[in-house]
Amino acid sequence: MARYDQVRTHTELLAAPLSPEDQTVQSMADVSPTKWHRAHVTWFFETFVLAENERGFSPFQDKYWFLFNSYYEAVGPRYNRAERGVVSRPGAHDVGIYRGNVDTRMRDLVDSLDQGTLDKLTSTIELGFHHEQQHQELLLMDIKHVLSMNPLQPVYAGTPSAVSEPDQIDWLDVEGGLVEIGCRGDAFCFDNELPEHQVYLEPYRLADRLVTNGEWLAFMADGGYRRPELWLSDGWAKVKAEGWDAPLYWLNLDGVWFEHTLNGTWPVNPGLPVSHVSHYEADAYAAWAGKRLPTEAEWEHGVRQAGPRDAQHLVGNLADTQSFHPRAAGPSTGKLRQAWGDCWEWTSSAYLPYPGFHPAAGAIGEYNGKFMSNQMVLRGGCALTPAGHVRDSYRNFFPPSARWALSGVRLADGGAPATRGGTAA
Ligand SMILES: [Fe+2]
Repeated sequence: MARYDQVRTHTELLAAPLSPEDQTVQSMADVSPTKWHRAHVTWFFETFVLAENERGFSPFQDKYWFLFNSYYEAVGPRYNRAERGVVSRPGAHDVGIYRGNVDTRMRDLVDSLDQGTLDKLTSTIELGFHHEQQHQELLLMDIKHVLSMNPLQPVYAGTPSAVSEPDQIDWLDVEGGLVEIGCRGDAFCFDNELPEHQVYLEPYRLADRLVTNGEWLAFMADGGYRRPELWLSDGWAKVKAEGWDAPLYWLNLDGVWFEHTLNGTWPVNPGLPVSHVSHYEADAYAAWAGKRLPTEAEWEHGVRQAGPRDAQHLVGNLADTQSFHPRAAGPSTGKLRQAWGDCWEWTSSAYLPYPGFHPAAGAIGEYNGKFMSNQMVLRGGCALTPAGHVRDSYRNFFPPSARWALSGVRLADGGAPATRGGTAA
């Protein structure tokens, strides 16, 4: 319950700088209002823990059951995702009352259960922690998009990094072979990280840091967004249909590129990792640079080879730094940098089940498996990911055209084939 309180309190801390009006807006279909996130993670505990275990259970509000179900078909009908922003009631304050009610009932339930029942419930409650942490990250990504629509250029929190230039990029050689991929040990992982299995890798190289804004400006200056030969066919169609000419939150004011961040709107800082690019853009950049994106197995194995999970050189900038934006890689160490945090890193791997994958039984089995189509895997966490939430086997996933997630680029070379020949940077 100490862990429960810590996770639940943190969600409210993230929402605290936001007014009830901020918390109500849905700026596009993929974005959910802040108050919806706060209510939905509460609904998760109410649905998957209280409903099946609380004596004489009845939902806090009948209609909340319908409003705050995200995508669980087995639990019943749900409100249309794209219209969450037109629901003005319950307001942000009433969502807080809902949260408090479920927290009290969760404490009462845990106090009343015998150890055997509690042991059976532990994995679902723990899933609820990790689910809420995922939504803490989404809450920040979503409010970033909401605030980006506002001409007043509001600041959420944090201070911007000092202006810096990209440092040298180094390459780390990784021996290939038959390697183990996937979740190992007894620590928590999602079902999509299982089972651990073998993968054969040719020898390959990983860039020691993420691609920077400065390098992205060079890609743009060299016609990166105007040269179809660099792009996947679907990506080029998106460039034309949506008029892409820069990363999502960049805006050109009198010839100078600015970037909307949660710290405010500032001139693009060349030394910071480029962020809010789609898989299509990441792939086109790699083609331009004469490199490629790593596969998810290359990323996982490479990071494991680079040192233990908490090795100082691997740890970039996760949400515990409260920067709310990626930071520069720092001086080259001859080792892999920014593996954890800063930007989720696009891989060239489609999000597919591992050999022998089985979703969990029941409604909770809808958590990951049913999204294994038309999405690409991202690895490593970002500046909005709660510290301790991410791990080397963690598989995030988004459609290849998605840009509002805090996603960036790490290049790879050697081993697997490059997608297309490019003109070297
Ligand atoms: Fe959810």
